[in-house]
Amino acid sequence: MVKKNVCVFISGTGTNLKALIKSSREYNFPINISCVVSNTINANGLNFARMYRIPFYILNSNNKLNLELILQILKHKNISLICLAGYMKILKKNFISAFNGRIINIHPSLLPKYKGLNTFKRVLISKEKITGCTVHYVNKKLDAGKIILQKKIFVESNDNEKTLKAKVQQAEYRTYSESIIKIFK
Ligand code: GRF
Repeated sequence: MVKKNVCVFISGTGTNLKALIKSSREYNFPINISCVVSNTINANGLNFARMYRIPFYILNSNNKLNLELILQILKHKNISLICLAGYMKILKKNFISAFNGRIINIHPSLLPKYKGLNTFKRVLISKEKITGCTVHYVNKKLDAGKIILQKKIFVESNDNEKTLKAKVQQAEYRTYSESIIKIFK
């Protein structure tokens, strides 16, 4: 199988990155993670890139030259898809245009519900019985692109932000890999 080249964008812990790296190492999984981009040099997720010997780059989207350089690298590496995995910056419109329809994101709620930040807190305040995660295409509006896959989880009465996050993230790891299989099948 000829695997497609993918770049994963992160800002923080990088557990979704780790799960994607693991899936990508399976023979039948359709992608290879060619590089990682982070907007911060301190992102813990960069340790997974180091551990698995995946090249990584730091993106400063306010610096035009840096942004242009990253775009050139991604083109040079023949990147078919960008996976945002806890990437906390809004992508510049020209960046989205350059990869139009080839950027996806994972969000910790059942979109269109709870777009934006602090999803777990808002889910608990609203006393939702069900929440989950969504993998969707990225367009110029926040968390509003076409949905690829969603997975539901139950909210228990004794759940708090920490337990809910742990459950949703377990669902995220599977959902992200399944979404990639769906895209490339
Ligand atoms: C995930 O919960 C994802 O839904 C959200 O940011 C979190 C990133 O976690 N967009 P990690 O960095 O992959 O551990």
